[in-house]
Amino acid sequence: MEVIVVTDRHELAARAADRVEALVRRKPDAVLGVATGSSPLGLYAELAARVRAGLDLSRVRAFALDEYVGLGPADPQSYATVVRENVTEPLGLDPRNVHVPDGTASDLEEACAAYERAIRVAGGVDLQLLGIGSNGHIGFNEPSSSFASRTRVTTLAPSTRADNARFFADPAEVPERSVTQGLATIMAARSILLLAAGPGKAEAIARAVEGPVTEACPASILQRHPAATVIADEEAAARLPVAERDGAVVRS
Ligand code: GLP
Repeated sequence: MEVIVVTDRHELAARAADRVEALVRRKPDAVLGVATGSSPLGLYAELAARVRAGLDLSRVRAFALDEYVGLGPADPQSYATVVRENVTEPLGLDPRNVHVPDGTASDLEEACAAYERAIRVAGGVDLQLLGIGSNGHIGFNEPSSSFASRTRVTTLAPSTRADNARFFADPAEVPERSVTQGLATIMAARSILLLAAGPGKAEAIARAVEGPVTEACPASILQRHPAATVIADEEAAARLPVAERDGAVVRS
């Protein structure tokens, strides 16, 4: 796993945007895996600025990582809304090329299978963007999720519901379940970029990068990916060994 430590959120966004831009210049209809949460927001804003300056992302295709069960695209708290407002519109993507799991489907199991098929038909994900939960989750794959998991319905950990309560008027409104790409789905991406900022992520980053590869820390599976990069600010990298905090380190 490659680890890049940056000084602040601004540099984090710029370094991540460089990766996305390089991919899209090489492959204009690249498939991006897009994450929600606050971690990638700076990246999306930076990409939007580059689009206003002439970068063309109009042929990019995108698949969101996850969605809350019960929240539809019209719900302001849904990830479909977050993706529309932060990715599709500001980056100039064609809405027909942007996919979010359907958390309101009457048959959720079939919706999960359909999502896996759609990713396959698109040719797979070229670059999967990820945040990390304070408990080490990626997507909504909570601790003890199987490394073999595919897109499915999961139950949110109490700590995740507490972390995400800030987006809701009332903590009781945070849904209890999600539809999320599984860990095997995420690992099938050709490259992965995990972004982490702030002291609340320091322990999760240390466990993901340095700890044992274990289902107790879902993000630790990324150590087994041939092209996974973590970009962390100094606060999020604070519990990594000194050598890694000093700059980019390529790990096997
Ligand atoms: C959420 C999302 C994840 C996200 C994580 C971190 O629960 N399901 O995809 O990466 O939490 O969120 P944040 O970036 O806001 O810290």
